[in-house]
Amino acid sequence: MTLRYIALLIAGLSVFTCKTWAVVDVSMEDWVDVSLKGQAEIPCIYTLKEPAKMIVWFTKLPGRDQSRRRIYYYDGQKTVIEEGSEYVGRIKVTHSHEPQNARGSAILIIDNVQLSDQREYICTVYNVSTDSGEGRTRLQIFNSPSLPVIEGMHTGISVTVEEPSKVAQCKVDDGYPRPNITWYKGRFPLQQSEEVKTMELVTTKPNGLFTVHSDLYIKVEKTDEDALFYCEVKYFVPGGVRMTETKKINITVHYPTTEVTLSVNPHDRLIKEGDTVKIRCVGNGKPPPIFSFTHNGDELSSDEEMLLLDNVSRSNSGTYVCQSFDLDTGTSFEDSINITVHYLDHIVVTPEETVLDQGDDLTLTCNALSSLPTQTAWYKHDMQLVERHVLELNNASYDTAGMYMCKVTVPSLPDLQELKSVQVSVRGKPKLTVEMAADPVNKADRSVNLTCHAEGYPSPTITWTLSDQWTGQPVPVPEVESQKTDTGVLSMISVRATSKLTVNCSAANEFGTVNVSHKIEASARVKTTTTQATSTKGTRLTTPPKQPHTARRKRPVRMIL
Ligand SMILES: *[C@@H]1O[C@H](CO)[C@@H](O)[C@H](O)[C@H]1NC(C)=O
Ligand SMILES: *[C@@H]1O[C@H](CO)[C@@H](O)[C@H](O)[C@H]1NC(C)=O
Ligand SMILES: *[C@@H]1O[C@H](CO)[C@@H](O)[C@H](O)[C@H]1NC(C)=O
Ligand SMILES: *[C@@H]1O[C@H](CO)[C@@H](O)[C@H](O)[C@H]1NC(C)=O
Ligand SMILES: *[C@@H]1O[C@H](CO)[C@@H](O)[C@H](O)[C@H]1NC(C)=O
Ligand SMILES: *[C@@H]1O[C@H](CO)[C@@H](O)[C@H](O)[C@H]1NC(C)=O
Ligand SMILES: *[C@@H]1O[C@H](CO)[C@@H](O)[C@H](O)[C@H]1NC(C)=O
Ligand SMILES: *[C@@H]1O[C@H](CO)[C@@H](O)[C@H](O)[C@H]1NC(C)=O
Ligand SMILES: *[C@@H]1O[C@H](CO)[C@@H](O)[C@H](O)[C@H]1NC(C)=O
Repeated sequence: MTLRYIALLIAGLSVFTCKTWAVVDVSMEDWVDVSLKGQAEIPCIYTLKEPAKMIVWFTKLPGRDQSRRRIYYYDGQKTVIEEGSEYVGRIKVTHSHEPQNARGSAILIIDNVQLSDQREYICTVYNVSTDSGEGRTRLQIFNSPSLPVIEGMHTGISVTVEEPSKVAQCKVDDGYPRPNITWYKGRFPLQQSEEVKTMELVTTKPNGLFTVHSDLYIKVEKTDEDALFYCEVKYFVPGGVRMTETKKINITVHYPTTEVTLSVNPHDRLIKEGDTVKIRCVGNGKPPPIFSFTHNGDELSSDEEMLLLDNVSRSNSGTYVCQSFDLDTGTSFEDSINITVHYLDHIVVTPEETVLDQGDDLTLTCNALSSLPTQTAWYKHDMQLVERHVLELNNASYDTAGMYMCKVTVPSLPDLQELKSVQVSVRGKPKLTVEMAADPVNKADRSVNLTCHAEGYPSPTITWTLSDQWTGQPVPVPEVESQKTDTGVLSMISVRATSKLTVNCSAANEFGTVNVSHKIEASARVKTTTTQATSTKGTRLTTPPKQPHTARRKRPVRMIL
């Protein structure tokens, strides 16, 4: 554009040409450029020692009518602007003369230039009524057009169409002279070819200004979905050429699907029962084709590209197939994927009967079906006993009795785990353990808690009796709290040791009865007499951890018999 502009400037300057055929030398520019509604100045230079006797300006209409019309007359004294012409009120002429250079000038000034002013202006200079010379200048009018507007097609454009398809249209308004539209794809202007066509429509508005429409047709390719298209508008301005561009737009390209891909989420870990599984089908075409899914050959209903399986179970395992159907081409493609839903069933422990006689042997077996390798371990009181599925219990004693737990885990899928507890009971006469606790803080409160634990099977029944040591009279038994334990029954009473009492806990089942007696002193010292057929352990006294400033308080007494 810059080059072109300079070229025009040079051309404009070189048009001061001498009309040597006339008696009076008159020089004028070949053309003068001016913006619509602007002010035009058309100089007329003559060579004379004296100021011109008379100067007349004519215009010449463009087109077929070549006749001149006088618009202005000057005879050294009076000036006449032709009445009735469109120039009335818009033109004036300034005159000057330099005797030392023998040069004079008359400059025609036109205000509020109209498109109709674009014509030839003739200046005739007389030194006597017969000797004259003339020159002529073309007035060229310019109007910069509005900013160009681009619009892409709102529908997708298919690569399968044979002929170039319309992809965008561009419009520029109110230019004069007519602006030119050039289409660009990326950084390169588009040339007309087999694949690229442009259709231009130029209209002249009633006011004489031009509107240019251009439609771009191309045979689209898949890569065009990443391309940016725009229009460039070039138009003349006084003394040069200017250029504006539209914004860049992209187009929607449609191309057939040639491949579909199934993917599963989660994809990075094993799937287990209860999980939510998403199976997604993606095609490489545009717009996406219609997808249909099957599972082990059975149709699944899904109108989208994703299949959502909530809370899956092992029956959701199998082969999933996604099939695409392209409406444009009528072709279909498919992909398949195998899904395994892993599981761990509930534990089964054998035998179910777990009541033993003392000295009996028992083999417990723990099994849980799984789709994956499992690990099994047996526990008692949170302590691991064996790390296998068989637990052997030999020569049962009361220590054998209790709650056993089997735990099955799946190392490759830690979320899968099953637990099962088994109660093992050992038949026999009750075995008693008595604990006594006095309040360590409140000395005044002389209450003592007595806890009697009777192990054995069938579950023993516990009976408490209280009697006054001095009178031997029975004392009413306070409220008894009792609960079942792993191996028997726990019973507790709370006694206010206001006088010396004998407390007797007796436990009985079908194999026999045992009893333990406590003498409770008012000082909470305890003397004990026991009979305990099954007890093999000695009496053991324990004290709780020492605390500061508690030397003189009552101490809880714990007795295991
Ligand atoms: C008019 O101009 C021509 C050319 O300059 C000159 O030859 C001629 O003498 C002039 N006539 C008068 C009356 O000045
Ligand atoms: C517009 O195109 C025409 C024909 O190619 C050319 O003559 C004219 O100079 C162009 N106008 C501009 C402003 O480039
Ligand atoms: C392409 O067009 C889409 C919508 O038609 C739009 O979301 C996206 O931003 C456009 N990309 C560019 C680079 O203009
Ligand atoms: C998952 O499915 C199982 C049966 O397959 C059902 O028992 C369970 O309640 C379901 N869980 C949820 C959260 O829907
Ligand atoms: C899915 O499993 C079937 C049968 O077990 C097998 O024939 C097929 O190759 C598997 N497909 C994939 C994608 O692994
Ligand atoms: C079984 O245990 C009892 C008492 O603990 C013991 O006397 C006996 O020898 C044990 N029998 C075997 C076979 O170990
Ligand atoms: C005795 O038992 C009761 C109720 O269980 C409890 O509130 C109280 O603290 C216990 N007393 C002692 C000394 O342990
Ligand atoms: C304890 O009470 C039982 C009856 O409940 C009785 O047979 C037994 O003799 C009493 N024991 C003592 C030591 O008093
Ligand atoms: C209670 O224990 C005493 C020994 O302290 C014993 O002689 C008596 O037989 C026991 N009574 C019962 C019912 O076991």
